[in-house]
Amino acid sequence: AQTKIAVVVGSLRKDSFNRKLAVALAKLAPSDVTFEQLRIDDLPLYNQDDDGKPAASVTRLKAEIQSAQGLLFVTPEYNRSIPGVLKNAIDHASRPYGKSAFPGKPAGVIGVSVGAIGTALAQQHLRNVLAYLDVPTLGQPEAFVQAKDGLFDADGSIGEASRAFLQGWLDKYLAWVRLHTAG
Ligand code: FNR
Repeated sequence: AQTKIAVVVGSLRKDSFNRKLAVALAKLAPSDVTFEQLRIDDLPLYNQDDDGKPAASVTRLKAEIQSAQGLLFVTPEYNRSIPGVLKNAIDHASRPYGKSAFPGKPAGVIGVSVGAIGTALAQQHLRNVLAYLDVPTLGQPEAFVQAKDGLFDADGSIGEASRAFLQGWLDKYLAWVRLHTAG
């Protein structure tokens, strides 16, 4: 059977390095795994008053999460945390109380930044949020990627220098998803 991974990119920027990383990671996966980037740019700002009448974009987001076997968060670091657009999406999908899309859905977190610590602090904040939402998140290996020349090659694949490392990360992530979806 096909394994579907719902990918949430924490940047809305057209030329986002994180979006490129998400696309390049998908190319490293075997053919029975599909990656679908979820839209988060059309979500309203979360407002608890709307819990009883969610926007169509919110209902869609939650359905996409629930129909996937795994979640992959590919996010930049904004001011040593996760971008507000990502937190907004997570807050939407976690509500109304008791109707969260997240419990038990296996996840991985990864990110690329121009800074030297490669989203480490954003990932740590995200892990805190995911732990609360009962999302089993791959602990090791960690992957902190710095945006440098050669990270991607001309066709948008992972460049030579990082390919083996990120292939190893992706293989462990997919094994983690399978572990949590077996049986
Ligand atoms: C950043 N950037 C950044 N980088 C980092 O390593 N740590 C940080 O705390 C921040 N903070 C930050 C805040 C805001 C508001 C912006 C816009 C940027 C830089 C960031 O790594 C860079 O802009 C990346 O290119 C963002 O990822 P995308 O959009 O390319 O995926």
